[in-house]
Amino acid sequence: MIRSRLVLVCLALSALATTAIARPIAESCGNGIVRFHASAAARDAMPPSLCLIEPLIATGPAPADWRIHPEFTRVKGRPSVHIPIPEGTDLYGTGEVPGPLRRNDTQVIAWNFDAYGWDERTPHLYQSHPWVLALRPDGTSFGVLADTSHRCRIDLTDGIRITLQGPQFPVIIVEGDTPQDVVRTLGRLTGTMPLPPLWALGYHQCRYSYTPDDRVREVADEFRARGLPCDVMWLDIDYMDEYRCFTFHPLDFPDPKGLTDELHAEGFHVISIIDPGIKIDPNYHVYTTGQARDAWVKTRDGRDYVGHVWPGACVFPDFTRADTRDWWAGLYGDFLAYGIDGVWNDMNEPAVFNVDSKTMALDNRHRADPELGGPAPHARYHNVYGMLMARATWEGCLQARPERRPFVLSRANHLGGQRYAACWTGDNTANWSHVDMSISQVLNLGLSGQPFSGPDIGGFCGPGNGKQFARWMGFGALLPFARGHTGKGNVDKEPWSFGPGVEETCRLALERRYRLLPHLYTLMREAAETGLPPARPLFFTDATDPRLRSADDAFLLGDGLLVSCNTSSGRAPEPVLPDGVWRAFSLVDGDGADLDLPVLMLGEGHVLPVGPIMQWSGERPLDELELVVCLDEDGRAEGILYEDAGDGYGYRDGEYRVTRYTVRQRGGLTVVTSDVIEGNWAQAKRPLTVRILTEDGERRAEGTEDEAITIRR
Ligand code: NOJ
Repeated sequence: MIRSRLVLVCLALSALATTAIARPIAESCGNGIVRFHASAAARDAMPPSLCLIEPLIATGPAPADWRIHPEFTRVKGRPSVHIPIPEGTDLYGTGEVPGPLRRNDTQVIAWNFDAYGWDERTPHLYQSHPWVLALRPDGTSFGVLADTSHRCRIDLTDGIRITLQGPQFPVIIVEGDTPQDVVRTLGRLTGTMPLPPLWALGYHQCRYSYTPDDRVREVADEFRARGLPCDVMWLDIDYMDEYRCFTFHPLDFPDPKGLTDELHAEGFHVISIIDPGIKIDPNYHVYTTGQARDAWVKTRDGRDYVGHVWPGACVFPDFTRADTRDWWAGLYGDFLAYGIDGVWNDMNEPAVFNVDSKTMALDNRHRADPELGGPAPHARYHNVYGMLMARATWEGCLQARPERRPFVLSRANHLGGQRYAACWTGDNTANWSHVDMSISQVLNLGLSGQPFSGPDIGGFCGPGNGKQFARWMGFGALLPFARGHTGKGNVDKEPWSFGPGVEETCRLALERRYRLLPHLYTLMREAAETGLPPARPLFFTDATDPRLRSADDAFLLGDGLLVSCNTSSGRAPEPVLPDGVWRAFSLVDGDGADLDLPVLMLGEGHVLPVGPIMQWSGERPLDELELVVCLDEDGRAEGILYEDAGDGYGYRDGEYRVTRYTVRQRGGLTVVTSDVIEGNWAQAKRPLTVRILTEDGERRAEGTEDEAITIRR
């Protein structure tokens, strides 16, 4: 009797815990896009989206044959949505998350968090992407976008369940024939990253902190003296005067313009860190001008919110207001005039030291503009605080130098934030698990709209060791954003820090990157145009092949270049390769023999244009080119190359060139032709070396780009 009562009570409780909501509203919002609301009331109360590039206009009801129907429920009183998935469906995305590429059976909390020393189990890192990409067994795909900025749990242990700490939210479902289709639609919905300057695709060297200025010079000189390619030197917080943003330390960095002039003369660009915490100091121009604007986030009772970060007691700009963003953007004019080329926004979750939550109070007030949804507690704007800061920074850089493309790196961000900033995966640790996770993180970010990301190569926390550093640099140098960085008090982690053997591996890795820069830039342009990321999972080659769905020790750069990595301390496991012919090839002398470097393979039917080794991206124009070719079984291959001035906006007026390289083999003849298929730049006449990879080696031929090259067998 007692037992049956207990059962009844439990049943009643579980009914209370999850309550279904009847009759969701489905509205078609374009080809392959349907938005669902829990109810008509929820639709009418929907606040502006903080991730979409523009409001989605409903054009009618969902198509009759629409396949995915979210079930809106309440779990313990909280709005929740459940999307059952067909058996054999694999899940990806969810943004910046630790762990493997395939996300089935994982849970993540979308909550921007100062996750210092995070590991596989950390539920929330620095960025929030309420987005899941699903791949059905037949290779068709759908995406689920929870259009909310509130903290939410994305639970992938039983289909897809997203539960919110906040008001009811719409869910946008995207359908596609392939995962690429869905990722492209995500790019249309949330925007794509504007084309970055070419130099940002070079190798970056950072540390917390290179100080004083002579140490920056010393490290930069060392790169040049050792012939290790590098484009960017970074200044972490110790360049500032007592951590006051937009200032320089009077003793350690007495002549910032002199320093940047010297670095520029050596071919380096310079990036400086800017945090959101503004020191309360009546003698500090950023504090006083912000104060005059009443720019700060408020407490619930209307006082300026004060939290402690590096400078001690700080106030925090309320980036939800255009007025504050304009003021912030305006600060970059004088700052960039010191010769600073790009900006690193850090600690913008925002991180706060002196509270258990590690961030500001959820009931703090943002006086947001109406187009963002108007005034609301921090709980609504927390996950977009970093994105709005990056937006203001991006706009400030553009305003200060309209003729140059901004480059911003942001630690915190949100779905859609690729429009303003690139991403690194925060304070990782020098161990093999983090080496391994670097690839899946970059791939999942790419599947979540962010094309330009990479880890701290070498690990922010902990010393690691030479072998680890070599392998990390080996493939890290080929990820879209390639930056070495480490923490204060840690061992040195420059490419030469672990001795000559590791340095040699790093040199080969970096030389490979620089040879591949023309290809990486072409891919970045594709990302800007379509939203497809440069680094792609192997299942992009064949979404029906189950073997490829968990492969995350390898990645593709584009469609045809496969990078097979060793992310462990031992021997590399046999790589899982997509069907078809994949030929390993060398890019720089000695790279084939270095087992710490990833194996590069070109897929059949592809032409890969590569440039010469350079010490920095602007060292010389791309005045010679090599085409690496892998013919398909019909003796054909194709590839494209995008080129422009590398910076500025001339490309918008046609000052660019897309060249298509075509290789055709007929009988004993192989013919290579180049055609400009887009843009107003005249066809180049540069020397061209063709390398045709074959079963037993390669065939080479020389010519120039403006004429067909014929190779006789
Ligand atoms: C935290 C960042 O994650 C790290 O990269 C940086 O070096 C420190 N803040 C100091 O600015």
